Amino acid sequence: MGSKFKQAERLQKLPPYLFVRLEQLAAKKKAEGVKMIDFGIGDPDLPCPGEIVRAMKKAADVNGNQKYSSSQGEKDLRDAVAEYYRKRFNVKVNPDTEVCITIGSKEGIFNIAQAFVNDGEKIIAPSPGYPVYSGAASIFNNAVCDKVALEPENGWLLNMDDCPTDARLMYLNYPNNPTGATCDVKYLKGVSKWARRNKTILAYDNAYCEMTYDGYKAPSILETGKDAVEFGSFSKTFCMTGFRLGFAVGNEDLVAGLIKCKGQVDSGAPIFVQKAAIAALHMYTDDGDLKAAVRGNIDEFGERRKVLVEGLRELGYECEMPKGTFYVWFDCGKTSMEFTQEMIGRGVIVTPGTGFGETCEGYIRMAVTKPADQIQAALKRMGKKND
Ligand SMILES: Cc1ncc(COP(=O)(O)O)c(C=O)c1O
Repeated sequence: MGSKFKQAERLQKLPPYLFVRLEQLAAKKKAEGVKMIDFGIGDPDLPCPGEIVRAMKKAADVNGNQKYSSSQGEKDLRDAVAEYYRKRFNVKVNPDTEVCITIGSKEGIFNIAQAFVNDGEKIIAPSPGYPVYSGAASIFNNAVCDKVALEPENGWLLNMDDCPTDARLMYLNYPNNPTGATCDVKYLKGVSKWARRNKTILAYDNAYCEMTYDGYKAPSILETGKDAVEFGSFSKTFCMTGFRLGFAVGNEDLVAGLIKCKGQVDSGAPIFVQKAAIAALHMYTDDGDLKAAVRGNIDEFGERRKVLVEGLRELGYECEMPKGTFYVWFDCGKTSMEFTQEMIGRGVIVTPGTGFGETCEGYIRMAVTKPADQIQAALKRMGKKND
């Protein structure tokens, strides 16, 4: 049946959001009475630490916190973000010109392209990658999206020799969704140098910088200079996905463009949520480490990651132990969609790698958002490779 109101062409160009399609597949199974074990979406199941929630509740009671914020975000939170960069990355940032609070990092990731990319200009989106880079950020801005393949042989690191030198903007994300790959500051220095040489805006997505294990500490792109913009998120570190809060930090021209753009689209994140974020950033010690209430959650994801990786290896899958993110990424030995459908049939929801880029045929992502006993139960349901 034809729709009464036709969507704009740019919306029609957007592929359906992956998780919606998966939900439809799983709904059918649920209707048959099967209790699904869901490793699909990257939404932490563990609770946000109590002191953050309490700070938000207290702040919500105050009349002044129930009003509009500014598009740039509250001064006290911007100060706290600057302090976080000093403690955690030893980077000095100006909270008045180099920080903007965003409504989740997703909003900033989209709006940076809105603010800086003209029709027909090129955006580099690594493949696989977070779908917003090649989706809304590219399509809604009439940009030409150049999907550059990440290769397992290169540790899923973007090879700059594969990138077009005439791009306006490049997205990059380590620790990486979906592969779990990580990088060091030396690699980032090379990327920054490349971006400077080619006058490409570097939009670095550091949403998972604290979700790391086995002694690995993720760097910031700002450790390589201030020509880039970095997106941070409260979502994964503090299990605050539903609070919708993130930040953009870096080059003041890029931050100013983002603020101008946001001024037309939103009026900033709710003030009481920003107050909760200040409490969250107070959970860093002076050495830039996280206090136990937060570290405990991250360590729990780290333990589950081990249970899943070891279990998958026992089932016959070759699988890396990721040092970052809460995703496990592996080659399933058949097409991603075939495997996903088969697993949904067995009561386990996984995400097909092709949802993150066509170059990832055969790969699967599982988010360790379920406790170890449910991971064990899911492994039993999955059965041995090719069974
Ligand atoms: C790589 C990456 N960047 C950004 C985001 C957006 O996070 P948020 O908008 O909740 O800060 C996500 C969410 O899953 C992600 O995986």
